[in-house]
Amino acid sequence: MALPPRLLPFFLLIGVHASVSHGSPLPPTYNTSICSKSYECGGVNISYPFYLSNATGETYDYTQFSCGYTDLKISCSLDGRNETPTIQLGGDNYTVLDIFYDNRTIMLADTDALRGGSCPRVRHNVTFGQAYEWLQYTGSPDNLTFFFGCNLNLALTIDPRLVSLSDQYQINCKTFSNGPDGGDSFVFTSGELEGPVESELARRCSQVIVVPVNGGILNSSNQSALPSGGYGQVLKKGFDLAWNSRKDEQCNLCEQSQGHCSYSQNRTFLGCLCSDGKVGNQDCRNSGGARQG
Ligand SMILES: *[C@@H]1O[C@H](CO)[C@@H](O)[C@H](O)[C@H]1NC(C)=O
Ligand SMILES: *[C@@H]1O[C@H](CO)[C@@H](O)[C@H](O)[C@H]1NC(C)=O
Ligand SMILES: *[C@@H]1O[C@H](CO)[C@@H](O)[C@H](O)[C@H]1NC(C)=O
Ligand SMILES: *[C@@H]1O[C@H](CO)[C@@H](O)[C@H](O)[C@H]1NC(C)=O
Ligand SMILES: *[C@@H]1O[C@H](CO)[C@@H](O)[C@H](O)[C@H]1NC(C)=O
Ligand SMILES: *[C@@H]1O[C@H](CO)[C@@H](O)[C@H](O)[C@H]1NC(C)=O
Ligand SMILES: *[C@@H]1O[C@H](CO)[C@@H](O)[C@H](O)[C@H]1NC(C)=O
Ligand SMILES: *[C@@H]1O[C@H](CO)[C@@H](O)[C@H](O)[C@H]1NC(C)=O
Ligand SMILES: *[C@@H]1O[C@H](CO)[C@@H](O)[C@H](O)[C@H]1NC(C)=O
Ligand SMILES: *[C@@H]1O[C@H](CO)[C@@H](O)[C@H](O)[C@H]1NC(C)=O
Repeated sequence: MALPPRLLPFFLLIGVHASVSHGSPLPPTYNTSICSKSYECGGVNISYPFYLSNATGETYDYTQFSCGYTDLKISCSLDGRNETPTIQLGGDNYTVLDIFYDNRTIMLADTDALRGGSCPRVRHNVTFGQAYEWLQYTGSPDNLTFFFGCNLNLALTIDPRLVSLSDQYQINCKTFSNGPDGGDSFVFTSGELEGPVESELARRCSQVIVVPVNGGILNSSNQSALPSGGYGQVLKKGFDLAWNSRKDEQCNLCEQSQGHCSYSQNRTFLGCLCSDGKVGNQDCRNSGGARQG
């Protein structure tokens, strides 16, 4: 029996879908009110590919699907009377200062740095975890390097190269609290320490932390005031990351048709969310309603 010609493309498409879709596909429709178009949290507009942490749905087999890229999940929490958008990277929380959709840039600041008063104590390096699949440094990235809990007393007699560090680079704000172990702390811009001195210093300190900062802001700040609190102001201005879709052909097709890519927790592409509540297995061209925005 010959198929009516009108239906042929339809069956061909099903064949294509079956061959490109892996894992558990989403049901053919989803509840559009779960994936809100945009949400404002603390003055920051959260839109695809970002999504609120509650904007995830469940499929029939309880697989969670996201309304955007797996790791670009933003929590909007109430901090006193202020809403604060935060994102988790590599297990640490960062406050979202702003998101620029036209140049695909997100500005983040370490939440410890924002809450730590004028001379904050940072506690961790910035690691992306799996989010590196979507995020890269952009703009003019630079670093501040911190050495905490240092004991240079012995070094003063042994290594003269370390002596000069004390005046110029030692953190000397009154409100700085190094923690229970005490010791001296230092802050350097990139390139200020030569390799051998750096490792000599690191040997005498309990912790080394490298924090990305905005290079333009760092350069325009008073370098000699960094140890007395200037570093805190630079940290609070945050750093810039660019987002990109992965080299993920399925998501590219979906976005080209104005759809929104949905992923599982384990970053498997699950389907293309179209604005009319239909789920395209590949894109929104056949769904009759591409997403707006
Ligand atoms: C990821 O999740 C999907 C959907 O839950 C599942 O089908 C797939 O097997 C998982 N893949 C891996 C590598 O765990
Ligand atoms: C869609 O989701 C909203 C928000 O979670 C819920 O109130 C509503 O009942 C859901 N609609 C359907 C048809 O499930
Ligand atoms: C998610 O949280 C926001 C802010 O609390 C709320 O406005 C929105 O309705 C929630 N969405 C769902 C699907 O529960
Ligand atoms: C938020 O950004 C999206 C994407 O650029 C845009 O469509 C939407 O109008 C913006 N919403 C607000 C409240 O600014
Ligand atoms: C990050 O924020 C989440 C949600 O607000 C919270 O549950 C978690 O404990 C925080 N993690 C860290 C390391 O502070
Ligand atoms: C992105 O655009 C914003 C607003 O126009 C601008 O302030 C920022 O410097 C830009 N960032 C990059 C990395 O181009
Ligand atoms: C900043 O630190 C990172 C990680 O330690 C390093 O890869 C990068 O090259 C540094 N950037 C600059 C400008 O020194
Ligand atoms: C932070 O990164 C630096 C260099 O990239 C490394 O030497 C240091 O041990 C790291 N610190 C922590 C606490 O992981
Ligand atoms: C900041 O200054 C350093 C050293 O002079 C220079 O290499 C870097 O390009 C400058 N960065 C910006 C964004 O101006
Ligand atoms: C830079 O900071 C140093 C140390 O706090 C201060 O003595 C100096 O006046 C500042 N320079 C400018 C131009 O503000």
